[in-house]
This record gives sequence, structure tokens and C-alpha cells, in this order.
Amino acid sequence: MKEKKGVIFDLDGVIVDTAKFHFLAWRKLANDLGFDFTEEQNEQLKGVSRVHSLQKILKWGGMKLSEEEFQHQMDLKNENYLSYVNEMDASEILPGVSKILDYLIENDIPFALGSASKNARTILEKLNLLEKFHAIVDGTDVSKAKPDPEVFLIAAEKLGVKPEDSIVFEDAVAGIQAANRANMTSIGIGDKTTLGEADYVFSDFTEIEREFIEKLLSKQRIK
Ligand code: BG6
Ligand code: MG
Repeated sequence: MKEKKGVIFDLDGVIVDTAKFHFLAWRKLANDLGFDFTEEQNEQLKGVSRVHSLQKILKWGGMKLSEEEFQHQMDLKNENYLSYVNEMDASEILPGVSKILDYLIENDIPFALGSASKNARTILEKLNLLEKFHAIVDGTDVSKAKPDPEVFLIAAEKLGVKPEDSIVFEDAVAGIQAANRANMTSIGIGDKTTLGEADYVFSDFTEIEREFIEKLLSKQRIK
């Protein structure tokens, strides 16, 4: 019998390019504290929770904050980040994403969101995508951050599909590792070298042919 397949999408950097807003907001925070970090360092923040991101950044700047100041800086960062998010609308959905979502809907393939962000619902609402997802698992639902597979395992469970029948789209190294650890098919969206651990990598969704998706969703397991 054909196993039921499901698809799980990361949000930031996959459905929408909010990764650039996270970078701008974190960089402002670092600059205000008197130091800077590079775009290469920023790669290490992708897929990483808000708390862990700030811990990493403070380490780069050789700084320590009191618990209260740490919380305050996280709040400031989020306020700044949301000022960008509030300007967003459906035109910011990344090229090729709507087409694949429509394909999944037409073919009755359930799909979920698996994101580390606590702002995920706000962003999906801005993009008019909130109602399309069969399940949403975000930073408010998980206790273990990617590369731990928790977020994707909960998403698959909510979709009613087995991990090995789940396909994950991710732009972050930590996210690809999480999908692999969950025994799911991992598809990297971004740079082939950075995301080398993924089962497949595409620079964006416009590169993905319909035949590829059909094959992935067919009863043969690719992994
Ligand atoms: C991830 C992003 O999706 O969500 C990270 O890749 C971000 O950069 C994390 O830190 C948490 O997001 P938020 O919106 O809860 O601060
Ligand atoms: Mg991401």
C-alpha cells in the first residue's frame, strides 16, 4: 500500500526571506553594544532560537549581560525585527513557493510548518498563508532547538505521517541536521556547499521541477 506522505516547511529563509530582517535586527543590537559580526557568522544564527542566537552573538562580542539586560536586549531585537515584518505582505512569498503549495493542495498532500520562530503565526498571517497549513509547529511548541529533530517529529505526528514519509524544506544547516536526525528526506534551499548534508539542494523553489516532487511523493522511498 502506498504510504501517506507529508511535507514540512521551515519558515524563515524558505517561505519568506525574513532571514535578512533577523540579520539587520541582530546586527543593530551588536552595533549598539559596540561590536559587529559578519554575514558568515550570521549563517550560524539561521534556524537557531532567539535565546541561543543572543548567546552566540554576545560570545562573538566578548560580552556578558545580566539576566535582566539579556531579556531586555532580546525584546528590543524582536521589536526591531517586527517593525520589518509589519511591512510585509503576500508579495514577499519567495518565488516558486505558492506554486508548490498549490500543487500539494490539489493533490491532497498535507503540509505543516516546522519553525523555530515565535513569530511564525504573525508572519504567515501577513502572507495570507496561515489557513493553508494543516499544522503549525513553532518556537512556542518546542523545548529542544534544531538540530534536535523535535520540531519536525511533532509536525509529522500532527500530519499523521511517519517520519520516513516526511519531506522537509530547510535553509539552515541546523535544520537539515534536524531533518536527517528525524529520518526524514531533507531538501536544502540555498547554497550547495553550506547545505551539503542535505539529501538534495536547490538554490530556490523555481529550480525544483514538478517531476522531482512527483517522484518524491510517489510510493518509492528515496531514502
Ligand atoms: C528561525 C530563524 O526560523 O527562527 C532564526 O532562522 C531565528 O534566525 C529563530 O532566531 C527564532 O525566531 P523568532 O522570530 O522567534 O525570534
Ligand atoms: Mg530558516
